[in-house]
Amino acid sequence: MNNRLGILLSGRGSNFQAISDRILAGRLNASIACVISNRPEAPGLAIARQRGLPALSIPSRGLDRESYDRLLLDQLRAHDIGLVCLAGYMRLLSAAFIRAYPLRILNIHPSLLPSFPGLDAQHQALVHGVRFTGCTVHFVDEDLDSGPIIEQAVVPVEDGDTLETLSARILVEEHRIYSEAIATVLEGRYRIEGRRVLKYPR
Ligand code: GAR
Repeated sequence: MNNRLGILLSGRGSNFQAISDRILAGRLNASIACVISNRPEAPGLAIARQRGLPALSIPSRGLDRESYDRLLLDQLRAHDIGLVCLAGYMRLLSAAFIRAYPLRILNIHPSLLPSFPGLDAQHQALVHGVRFTGCTVHFVDEDLDSGPIIEQAVVPVEDGDTLETLSARILVEEHRIYSEAIATVLEGRYRIEGRRVLKYPR
């Protein structure tokens, strides 16, 4: 697998920015070959352009999932992507897309999966009243937020937490573990047994 990352995002792009910062600091041996958004107005796209990275929006209006994902695949192939990183990408991927990149699509999710998959994971955690939540980086398979887990970080829920304070503390951990998971995968420092991702030390 080559170390060229294709980043898919739909919004703010802070996870993308954290990955980019790590690369720029020489702490992650990868390059960002393209940043793609389904939303032209995504702030993450503007950040990519400011950083001189290839950034494109592919609006999804009027396209079914398979047709849209074919456009995505065309772009990722054109940019010779080795690893696809979902960074706040708020669209489900088609089975054909997932099969095109086996064990080469990662996602970050703001909860300790399998708790609170889907939308508004931080809100779900607050409403449920858990004492601990966190974030997860996992391989993407054909079910929602369900592939083998590469990294997790635990974040305690404080009594006074609001959606904003809790999300902000989770985000700090997201920014840390996403780059660690990318390095593990790019360097091939793991094997998978059943659902378990067993990591080899550096
Ligand atoms: C992050 O909290 C990420 O975990 C979440 O969206 C946010 C994107 O922030 N992703 C999901 O909920 C995916 N189901 P960012 O655009 O600043 O990286």
